[in-house]
Amino acid sequence: MQVDGKHYRTIWVHPEDDSVIQIIDQRHLPHQFVIEDLTSVTGVALAIRDMHVRGAGLIGATAGYGMYLAALHDASDNNLKKASRELTQTRPTAVNLSWAVDRQLKAIAQADSTVDRIQVARQTAEDIANEDVDYCRSIGEYGLELIRKLAKEKGSGPLHILTHCNAGWLAFVDHGSATAPMYAAHDAGIDIHVWVDETRPRNQGARLTAWELGQHGVAHTVIPDNTGGHLMQHGLVDLVLTGTDRTTSSGDVVNKIGTYLKALAARDNDIPFYVALPSSTFDWKIKDALAEVPIEQRGADEVAMIQGLNEGQLKKVLITPPDSPLANYAFDVTPANLVTGLITERGICAANRESIGRLFPEYVINH
Ligand code: MRU
Repeated sequence: MQVDGKHYRTIWVHPEDDSVIQIIDQRHLPHQFVIEDLTSVTGVALAIRDMHVRGAGLIGATAGYGMYLAALHDASDNNLKKASRELTQTRPTAVNLSWAVDRQLKAIAQADSTVDRIQVARQTAEDIANEDVDYCRSIGEYGLELIRKLAKEKGSGPLHILTHCNAGWLAFVDHGSATAPMYAAHDAGIDIHVWVDETRPRNQGARLTAWELGQHGVAHTVIPDNTGGHLMQHGLVDLVLTGTDRTTSSGDVVNKIGTYLKALAARDNDIPFYVALPSSTFDWKIKDALAEVPIEQRGADEVAMIQGLNEGQLKKVLITPPDSPLANYAFDVTPANLVTGLITERGICAANRESIGRLFPEYVINH
């Protein structure tokens, strides 16, 4: 992804010191572009928990590099197990985190010597990141065809796409899931316009998706979270396209809080509701998302406070009565019956076990 004309991934190994992992600290965006050095598992865990990095794919990639740092410091089984626990405890909902840590543990277990273990951990972290990039690029290609078809059916005027939260480049290593088709469509000369839900309480839409789309030159408008239903009723949304933090093999979608309400409104207005995801975001083991997926509850301060730029400084201000009780559920479940389709790196399928199984038989058939 280009930032002021320079290509960046969201995470990489320091070019001059391979004991340092570099990330973009997303807490400062869109107002400041800050690169942070990570040198220990504890630093990586903090960066995930406090959302210096966030988004399903990037959490997974960061955990992968975290396991590499763990091996670099002490490649013993004990230390790697400890590191895996420290990393997986940071955030409970996005399945990419445990998927990446498990993949590292299995890969490292194949190597004996310390040198080999470090080498395998580094290679596996790079593989996870590179696959993330390839899969998102592929999602972009499949999603482009969907957008092309919808734009053709519409005939004239921009195709209006509504998105929620940030399932963009910043939520992955590059391209993004929900944004990849938008970038591909824009690059192909298709006239699109994106409604960006602000996504309270952390405003990933207003701060991150809007910034990304702006960097790429994609027409967009930031809207308060409650606006989508009104726009849909007035024919101003042609497609809803979101990401997901975990999706079951029967097509239930766990995503940023508020997604479910957008899916209900889309159904009521006959608007296609698509979800883009790489295969690392499927949880092949669970059957019932509502019963089995842990929904993260974050600190009350995220609801009570809002952050913005004031006279050149990032400031937080209090917006609630100081004593009001607050709740901060970070994700919700959109049942498969409200999802028109899933855009994956292997193609687009319906949100049900049969269709998902046709694209991913090696995972679905055997469970
Ligand atoms: O809490 P976050 O910012 O890590 O939430 C993740 C998200 O950005 C969204 O839920 C997104 O749609 C899915 S992540 C690709």
